[in-house]
Amino acid sequence: MTQEWIVEQTQEIVKNKFKDETTGHDWWHIYRVWKNSIHLAELESANRFVTELAALLHDIADWKFNNGDLEAGSREARKILESLNVDQDTIAHVCEIVQHVSFKGAGVKNHIKTLEGKIVQDADRLDAIGAIGIARAFTYGGSSNQIMHDPQVVPVLHQNFEAYKNKQSTTINHFYEKLLLLKDLMNTDSAKKIAEQRHVFMQGYLDRLMQEWEGKL
Ligand code: ADP
Ligand code: NI
Repeated sequence: MTQEWIVEQTQEIVKNKFKDETTGHDWWHIYRVWKNSIHLAELESANRFVTELAALLHDIADWKFNNGDLEAGSREARKILESLNVDQDTIAHVCEIVQHVSFKGAGVKNHIKTLEGKIVQDADRLDAIGAIGIARAFTYGGSSNQIMHDPQVVPVLHQNFEAYKNKQSTTINHFYEKLLLLKDLMNTDSAKKIAEQRHVFMQGYLDRLMQEWEGKL
């Protein structure tokens, strides 16, 4: 089987699974991460096959929707790739990326190792900031019955995964607990440049929101 065929089949499987998802992890999130990953892989001269498969499978079974099970994603990714007869080295690499890609708290160590993993993580994080990031945060907040903002609930920089996983916060606090931290957490220089602009846009948005909150605009 050609690599193009495998990528196309993976795309179909993922698209089918995510088409009705409304928590911010819909097919179009995967699509944007996939496209951003291809762009970064070209700029950073990474292995494109591994990058594309990991991007397409990075959210296949997220811990947030699997009772905190951190291995659900890589297990599901392996099943899909084995069904497409992908070679074992590629499967191992993709599964390692899927397992370690997601953000687990401001003070929690990042275990992503390879260039391809760094790229998929950067692409995923770029999709959490900027104009799209703002839309996704409120979509997630609504779907999990989280309140939008309460000035009396202060943001917390979580130092371990357990604390981050169990947090009860507000959507505006999520900006301070994660989204505004992402620009400094980008792995590649190419993603850092893109993140900078998206960060400035979010800051402007938050400034305005706070002024409107107090009736100042
Ligand atoms: P990723 O796809 O990068 O792994 P997550 O799974 O952490 O991202 O979250 C999916 C989307 O939902 C992201 O845009 C993220 O910022 C947003 N999100 C996650 N947790 C919260 C929260 N508590 N409040 C608001 N938005 C959130
Ligand atoms: Ni994602």
